[in-house]
Amino acid sequence: MQNEPSKPSQISSVPRHVAIIMDGNGRWASSRKKARHSGHRAGVKSVRLSVETAAQRGVEYLTLFAFSSENWARPEDEVGRLMSLFVEALRREVDELHRNNVRLNFVGAREQLNKGLREKITEAEKKTADNNGLRLTVAIAYGGRWDIIEATKAIARRVESGSLTADAIDEAEFVKGLQLADVPDPDLLIRTGGETRISNFLLWNLAYAELWFTDVLWPEFDANEFDNALAYFASRQRRFGNTGEQVEAVGC
Ligand code: IPE
Ligand code: IPE
Ligand code: MG
Repeated sequence: MQNEPSKPSQISSVPRHVAIIMDGNGRWASSRKKARHSGHRAGVKSVRLSVETAAQRGVEYLTLFAFSSENWARPEDEVGRLMSLFVEALRREVDELHRNNVRLNFVGAREQLNKGLREKITEAEKKTADNNGLRLTVAIAYGGRWDIIEATKAIARRVESGSLTADAIDEAEFVKGLQLADVPDPDLLIRTGGETRISNFLLWNLAYAELWFTDVLWPEFDANEFDNALAYFASRQRRFGNTGEQVEAVGC
């Protein structure tokens, strides 16, 4: 099954998949007496740095939380500026990502986005579809509960149509309907900005992720801080429910 957590025997000291909750843009801007949107703009540089660092360190999958289902509740002006920033960032960054062999994908409730952004997203996904370097997934209008509900609808339809029985539903069948169905589960979750919560990110997929939190605000997140997270990950013994002795016995 593609998105099962790695088994102890497959553990490497570099996470295959890193997920990041990019938080703290607004506070970064307020601390400089600037408007919140300037924090979001400053955050684009940290995205670029994270993509570069992940690729250089041998991470295969990087998933970034850019806008949650709940973020629609923010003031209209902030939401509008964020949507424009996503379009602008795609316009400016996709060629470079493509040159660097990055495959770009988006997850979330795409139908909620405006037409201009949807077009940019489709264009970026098409352009980079055959790249086999870092797989970069950006979550926009994404919520972990929404994702699980959508997967539930997909599996309910299969049962309704008679192609699957209720008793045959297992994890492998269920994950086929999740947004990250073809991506292994994150090994490491990073959250910047000092909060120690998941905020409705990948609720299913984070089941066995190592969690790493930093007070650094997203616009100040850099390669050094990324390396701190990777060092923390490398220091953990991942047991997946086994005992420490069992894990040691398989040579990790
Ligand atoms: C994260 O930064 C970006 C988004 C949620 C879109 P915030 O905008 O949440 O920044 P803070 O948490 O208010 O500082
Ligand atoms: C989480 O940050 C969502 C993203 C980073 C896109 P929030 O700032 O929205 O999270 P809460 O509201 O503090 O939990
Ligand atoms: Mg926040």
